[in-house]
Amino acid sequence: MGIETSCDETAAAVVADGRVILSNRIASQVEIHARYGGVVPEVASRQHVLAVVPVIEQALAEAETGWDDLDGIAVTFGPGLAGSLLVGVNVAKAISLARGLPIAGVNHLEGHIYANWLNGAEVRFPVLCLIVSGGHSDLVLMRGHGDYVAVGRTRDDAAGEAFDKAARILGLGYPGGPAIERAAKGGVDILKLPRAWLNGSYDFSFSGVKTALLRLAQGDKISSPADAAASFQAAVVEVLVAKTVAAAKEYRVGQVLLSGGVAANKRLHEKLAQNSPVPVLAPELILCTDNAAMIAAAGYYHFQAGKIDGLGLDVVPGLKLT
Ligand code: KG4
Ligand code: ZN
Repeated sequence: MGIETSCDETAAAVVADGRVILSNRIASQVEIHARYGGVVPEVASRQHVLAVVPVIEQALAEAETGWDDLDGIAVTFGPGLAGSLLVGVNVAKAISLARGLPIAGVNHLEGHIYANWLNGAEVRFPVLCLIVSGGHSDLVLMRGHGDYVAVGRTRDDAAGEAFDKAARILGLGYPGGPAIERAAKGGVDILKLPRAWLNGSYDFSFSGVKTALLRLAQGDKISSPADAAASFQAAVVEVLVAKTVAAAKEYRVGQVLLSGGVAANKRLHEKLAQNSPVPVLAPELILCTDNAAMIAAAGYYHFQAGKIDGLGLDVVPGLKLT
């Protein structure tokens, strides 16, 4: 069983052999936080407390699994909101204690990567992972299970965060990624917003493009929100694709693994697939954004490697993958 409560989704899933989803339940708080334009940590923790037990019970029922059928519990212990993480980790410990099950503490970003093990495709190491979510934009070389080398990261805003801020500037609502993608369908990339190439580094920076958009909005220079959305999306996607393609060539990987909430963006997926020298894998839409099946998949490989956590497991809000 996987449990995920790092941000604003309370999720539980049952996965067999790290690859087959038996159930995947997600209680989203997005409507509660939408009225504030972003996640309110205190509200998120309280919602997790209310939702976590029903969501776990639903995951077991949907999988037609009893407690006795489970072999272990995988839970996100970081990075994320401390109060939110605490709910999942403590529920996992309670189950572990009551049922005598081992715990695998999973890094949320590792979980996003392992969503790619749930789509039936065969992953062949080494692979290059582009993890683009609300909190992270990372390029990671993965040489084997649990073996990660940092290649690039954002120096300011994460890609999803940039989408969320751009949508707010354009009055398109929250969460911004899907709203920008929808609006961009009726628009053209005519604003030619700046791209931060950072002298050939594999790091990213998205605060410049966001500020450029803000200036245009403040100067009343945006006549078409659709064109602005298309221009913003094109700028972010172009940089993500160019750097991922260059790194895939330099590190001679066999595949590129796309993951994280922004991986749900069709234009990103298409452009990457068109330009990558190697096949691009991406999870199906529901597995791109936060879920617990991906945590269970990652936990399975922890157990395979003999990595077992006990009741001493604690949350690490600033946890790093590499
Ligand atoms: O992985 P995720 O669900 O949560 C985090 O771990 O952060 O990612 C959420 C982020 C949000 O910033 C959201 O705007 C973005 O993913 N997102 C998208 C799309 N769907 C979700 N960004 C661009 N295009 C999308 N279709
Ligand atoms: Zn996430």
